[in-house]
Amino acid sequence: MSGDDDPPVELEARLADQETFEPSAEFVSQANVSDPAIYDEFEQNWPECWERAADLLSWDQEYDTVLDDGNKPFYEWFTGGELNASANCLDRHVEEGRGDELAIQWEGELGDTREFTYSELLREVEEFAAVLGDLGVREDDVVTLYLPMIPELPIAMLACARIGAPHSVVFAGFSADALATRMNAADSDHLVTCDGYYRRGDALDHKEKADEGLESVTGDTTTVVVDRLGDELDHSLGEDQYDYDDLVAEQEGASVDPVSRDAEDMLFLMYTSGTTGEPKGVKHTTGGYLSYAAWTSHAVLDVEPDDTYWCAADIGWITGHSYIVYGPLALGTTSVMYEGTPDYPEKDRLWELVEDYGVDIFYTAPTAIRAFMKWGQDYPKEHDLSSLRLLGTVGEPINPRAWKWYYTHIGGEECPIVDTWWQTETGGMMITTLPGIGEMKPGSAGPPLPGIDARIVDSGGEEVGAGDAGYLTVDNPWPGMLRTLYNNDERFLEEYWREYSDPDADEWVYFPEDGAKIDSDGYITILGRVDDVINVSGHRLGTMEIESAIVGTEGVAEAAVVGGDHDLKGEAVYAYVIVEDGYEGSDELRERIIEGVEEAIGPIARPEEVVFTPELPKTRSGKIMRRLLEDIASGNDLGDTSTLRNPDVVDDIAAQVRGD
Ligand code: WTA
Repeated sequence: MSGDDDPPVELEARLADQETFEPSAEFVSQANVSDPAIYDEFEQNWPECWERAADLLSWDQEYDTVLDDGNKPFYEWFTGGELNASANCLDRHVEEGRGDELAIQWEGELGDTREFTYSELLREVEEFAAVLGDLGVREDDVVTLYLPMIPELPIAMLACARIGAPHSVVFAGFSADALATRMNAADSDHLVTCDGYYRRGDALDHKEKADEGLESVTGDTTTVVVDRLGDELDHSLGEDQYDYDDLVAEQEGASVDPVSRDAEDMLFLMYTSGTTGEPKGVKHTTGGYLSYAAWTSHAVLDVEPDDTYWCAADIGWITGHSYIVYGPLALGTTSVMYEGTPDYPEKDRLWELVEDYGVDIFYTAPTAIRAFMKWGQDYPKEHDLSSLRLLGTVGEPINPRAWKWYYTHIGGEECPIVDTWWQTETGGMMITTLPGIGEMKPGSAGPPLPGIDARIVDSGGEEVGAGDAGYLTVDNPWPGMLRTLYNNDERFLEEYWREYSDPDADEWVYFPEDGAKIDSDGYITILGRVDDVINVSGHRLGTMEIESAIVGTEGVAEAAVVGGDHDLKGEAVYAYVIVEDGYEGSDELRERIIEGVEEAIGPIARPEEVVFTPELPKTRSGKIMRRLLEDIASGNDLGDTSTLRNPDVVDDIAAQVRGD
């Protein structure tokens, strides 16, 4: 969607066969939240209703005020309160006598396993917290974690939290350049990384990438390297680089007290893509974020301490932060954590894990569900999935067909599905049904959660009628919201608050930059981003970031990047490139462009197609017609192009994309 106020034709088709589904009486009777009165309770008692979230945590010092809105939109939550996130995720469960219960059951791609009880995880976290302290990490120093899905990643996150050092996790699939950009932006002098990890059976060298990134980091960095691959990959340690196991061995049995953090102290930074080239450092706090992650895990994912819960995301993204690490551990449940891909060694890998571990709750992304669907129902059929109680999706719109496949073939028509809309910035889920209450309408996420005041408005900020498309906005603040963009309050105001707020009246409206439609029953259907961000396999990528990588390639004069529809990925990257004089649009240049993007960002941003063109389609006023480029990429009808300055170029580009 590009900002038009009518629902796109494809959406009408997508929802034409929308049906409704009810959670079973059995699910409702055991659900953490099953009384519909919760919506009214939150509305009438706002903002004090959020005490319910804070009550899920243990506070060293009780807070004085639930919400301090004295300096909008720089809202503060649970002010005066003090707590520690690692103590909430670990110590208190051990103190309650649950130390022998499993916290994390990890499985590597090749089937190797490691498991940690709450006591064991606490010990690991304390030892690594002692290591960090010894290396000179102090409260408020940002520690960068460039690690794949191995247990040392949550251990390092919690160790940082324990000593009050915010972490900045950089997705392991990101490139060396992306690592350096994020470390420099966060002024981070400490890095935890590893030698490598397995992907589809191959041992990938990760340390090489980290070292390459470090060359562009401006400060002096101390690096800790986890030895994931043992003899499979030998790596040498450079200056100021240390072996994780050696350092931890020196701290065996160390005890490190959790520091009391102010509720508003930063818990972590997470860089995400925005409209401009520079990634945005989203700042989350200790009290508000943690209580919101715990509350939504409780209310939406229905997590109970004796569940086995599995979120098949990567901790390198916000989903993994909130719903692999902080939410589930704060609630004291048992989580499954998996290193590899869903189709290795076979396409039933995830179902094998669900069966082996007896998973109760499973949370994944539509892109994965579309792949499962393509592989066919025989893979899940080979396994006993009857332990499942609840299913969830996140990251992109799910079409009703994929929803129903998930419901039937994974959930056995017995598990409710929560389609959860939220963002890196929101910290946790915002729009979804509560599984023990609402009826489900495949394709629509559902109503806003209790206490969340989401509205769909037109470009003037007026609420649109039922069934009309518009822009999603959120009127009231909530505890999990980002507090600012790191070191950049101005950009924070600009990106999220300028569009629909009225500062003179002190009325502030959060704009997530998504389009949406609302039905008369209040159910919201998300249409997708309305800014220059695309969603590839549930991963957020800025088109400007990709464009600047392409323009940095020798021989490229200009580039426009858009998202085109893709059966599995949801959207794929399409790059339209104008070649510099003296160069040719050759396969060799195409290869270099793709390599350039992989180097600047990572393989996830790899263009699906690079289309060479002498010109980009422009309006008479000289604006690039991105909408048209999107339609070409998606194979849509192009309509009337005669008003363009250069209509001829359109046919030529479209023919290339079609492969004529
Ligand atoms: C999209 C991921 C439709 C949306 C947690 C949002 C969704 C962006 C859904 C945030 C959903 C997320 N239905 N679209 N259930 N969930 N999105 O920051 O466009 O990586 O703005 O956070 O993903 O992506 P992010």
